[in-house]
Amino acid sequence: MKFFIDTAEINEIRELADTGMVDGVTTNPSLVAKSGRDFKEVIAEICSIVEGPVSAEVAAIETEAMISEGRALAGIAKNVAVKVPLTWDGLRACRTLSSEGTMVNVTLCFSANQALLAAKAGATFISPFIGRLDDIGLIGMELIEEIRIVFDNYDALKTEILAASIRSPAHVKEAAMAGADVSTIPPAVLKSLAQHPLTDKGLTAFLSDWKKTGQTIV
Ligand code: E4P
Repeated sequence: MKFFIDTAEINEIRELADTGMVDGVTTNPSLVAKSGRDFKEVIAEICSIVEGPVSAEVAAIETEAMISEGRALAGIAKNVAVKVPLTWDGLRACRTLSSEGTMVNVTLCFSANQALLAAKAGATFISPFIGRLDDIGLIGMELIEEIRIVFDNYDALKTEILAASIRSPAHVKEAAMAGADVSTIPPAVLKSLAQHPLTDKGLTAFLSDWKKTGQTIV
């Protein structure tokens, strides 16, 4: 499973890119607003740090305006993936932008039928929002399982399942178990994936015992 990071904070992106674990980045208007940065400038900067797809979301809601914005965003760097919402206008824009060779991430997906539409519109990525389904008392991960089954039934559907609205390490594990192609993960959650109290306890014991040997390796 590929790891994207879900942030527009440059410092966090630099820090995590350095681990070699970052296959791409997703942003959304809320994350850009939180960064306080100019949208196009921050996308260009992210694209210069990360080689993989960097999602940048249109603000328009009508097809032609989405296409214009999508073309402008795609012009920033070759690794921009234009993000459009899962509406009929967004699906039409997805088809046009995809046919022009632009990567498209269809966002705000909450059903398998919506994912099927996005795949038929040529989306590179479909973003089912796990945490927001959990927030309303549903089991978000079931949506990943359903989309995986649907897509696996048809070789012609090449769209990658990008598990979004990930809120915890358990979400990451469950998305991988359900066969998501990508998870987009908040930086704090990604950092926590390496943590385990037994790793810390074991390392402390090993270091203490090694010290007793009085040896060095290099
Ligand atoms: C993904 O592309 C979205 O930006 C993001 O995962 C949404 O997460 P949230 O529901 O925690 O805001």
